[in-house]
Amino acid sequence: MFRSSSFYHYSHNHVATSFKSFFFFIPTTLALLTSLFILIYVYSTSIIFTHHHHQHHHKFQPILHLKSSSPNFTLPSPTSHLTTSSHKNDSEFIKSHTFQLGDHILGLGPQSQHGLSPDQSSLKAERSTQKKKIALSFGSEKFEEKTNVFHDRDIFLEDYKEMHRSFKIYVYPHKKDDPFANVLLPVKTEPGGNYASESYFKKALMKSHFITNDPTEADLFFMPFSIASLRHDRRVGVGGIKDFVRDYVQNIIHKYPYWNRTDGADHFYVACHSIGRSAMDKAPDVKFNAIQVVCSSSYFLSGYIAHKDACLPQIWPRKENLPKLVSSNRRKLAFFAGAANSALRRNLVETWKNDSEIFVHHGRLKTPYADELLGSKFCLHVKGFEVNTARIGDSLYYGCVPVIIADHYDLPFADVLNWKSFSVVVTTLDIPLLKKILKSMVNSGEYLMLQRNVLKVRKHFQWHSPPLELDSFYMVMYELWLRRSSIPILLGDS
Ligand SMILES: *[C@@H]1O[C@H](CO)[C@@H](O)[C@H](O)[C@H]1NC(C)=O
Ligand SMILES: *[C@@H]1O[C@H](CO)[C@@H](O)[C@H](O)[C@H]1NC(C)=O
Ligand SMILES: *[C@@H]1O[C@H](CO)[C@@H](O)[C@H](O)[C@H]1NC(C)=O
Ligand SMILES: *[C@@H]1O[C@H](CO)[C@@H](O)[C@H](O)[C@H]1NC(C)=O
Repeated sequence: MFRSSSFYHYSHNHVATSFKSFFFFIPTTLALLTSLFILIYVYSTSIIFTHHHHQHHHKFQPILHLKSSSPNFTLPSPTSHLTTSSHKNDSEFIKSHTFQLGDHILGLGPQSQHGLSPDQSSLKAERSTQKKKIALSFGSEKFEEKTNVFHDRDIFLEDYKEMHRSFKIYVYPHKKDDPFANVLLPVKTEPGGNYASESYFKKALMKSHFITNDPTEADLFFMPFSIASLRHDRRVGVGGIKDFVRDYVQNIIHKYPYWNRTDGADHFYVACHSIGRSAMDKAPDVKFNAIQVVCSSSYFLSGYIAHKDACLPQIWPRKENLPKLVSSNRRKLAFFAGAANSALRRNLVETWKNDSEIFVHHGRLKTPYADELLGSKFCLHVKGFEVNTARIGDSLYYGCVPVIIADHYDLPFADVLNWKSFSVVVTTLDIPLLKKILKSMVNSGEYLMLQRNVLKVRKHFQWHSPPLELDSFYMVMYELWLRRSSIPILLGDS
């Protein structure tokens, strides 16, 4: 305001007036600035307040307040931490967020650890004891906590059976001669490529026993548009996806009674291409209320809401026979290949490019990719343009222990699988310590345990047509099943 006013005056060349107004503006501006600071302060503390207020949510509980009972409800976006924790420097910020990821993987929930209010301190103490217990568990009687690939295998299997028995999905029907049948109906061919997960899911779902034609017995409603197909459709293209989705949702809102019952909380869509992240920009009700099953599941970005939404694993379909998945032939400590398309990857390449044990490649690989994955103990997944890639799926497929260096990534099936038991999750700040961390795991024997568990979880990261028990399809169904419970409560709410 000050700047634009003085600009106005100077531009009119009335020097005297300018001076006058300049002196007039100093106190006014100071007063305005002070009020502004007070406002920002009040605003930021109140965000901290709201944020902590929601900390008690349990790990599997869907975020029920997401229902837009207040129409102009806005989420505290993850970036708000950046402004509210201005007393922290970047490294502290990254650490506190990495804690969240750690907690999430330990099944303690992704709640924030920093800036706890007094009434939270006991919870914090409890958590940190829990964390210490788990941290100290390796090599002790608590060994099990880290070696189990499931957070709780018995509960999972029991629940999984129940899902098979009773879970029902209603898919919005579309005819074969619909002009957008290519986008709305499952593909006939075998899915392929980087975004195959999206096609595999729809194909498997439509033929499964979860499908019901009776909406009254449906737990969830599927909106079957494919973001990847829309992207390739000349009539729509990248630029038209948002409008297509808005029109599609408007159409089902008016044509069917189901959306209005829960404001869309029992609706879901599935997308693997990262462009899906902005596809709901003109359909905010989908973004804030529906279940988004997406590959680009970063809770640092505003499009994705952890707990409400779910991570779809990105998997490059492979069918080779694999002769040597065991750990013995793996001579290289760690391997990474990928374009140096992020500061993080450039940092990794800079730090380790000359190393004789950690092999980082940012150009064309001279050896076959599969040989590298089969010949390394650890395979690095480092965030590039996007948090997700098919790399984690690749490492698991080839029996290589994944090392995840991608803060804020909501890892696939983390509700069910104990990522600590088959992967190494390190913060971006740990890149210089990578060799030390990985070597100590090899020396302590922890690596062998991780590799054995990689072989156990491999099956959850594969698609098949038709699907096999506990493969990616059924695991994604289970993630949806965990999120279905919001509906009865929402109905009771209205
Ligand atoms: C909500 O937002 C809409 C459009 O932005 C506005 O017209 C309406 O008055 C707002 N309602 C409330 C309760 O703030
Ligand atoms: C940020 O905080 C960390 C931990 O408190 C400290 O080690 C680091 O030196 C700080 N960095 C800056 C730039 O102040
Ligand atoms: C659902 O609610 C919207 C907005 O209130 C309304 O325009 C629409 O007609 C409703 N849908 C049905 C099927 O009644
Ligand atoms: C890697 O090797 C090159 C040439 O041998 C050298 O110039 C560079 O400083 C080395 N980098 C590191 C990080 O050691």
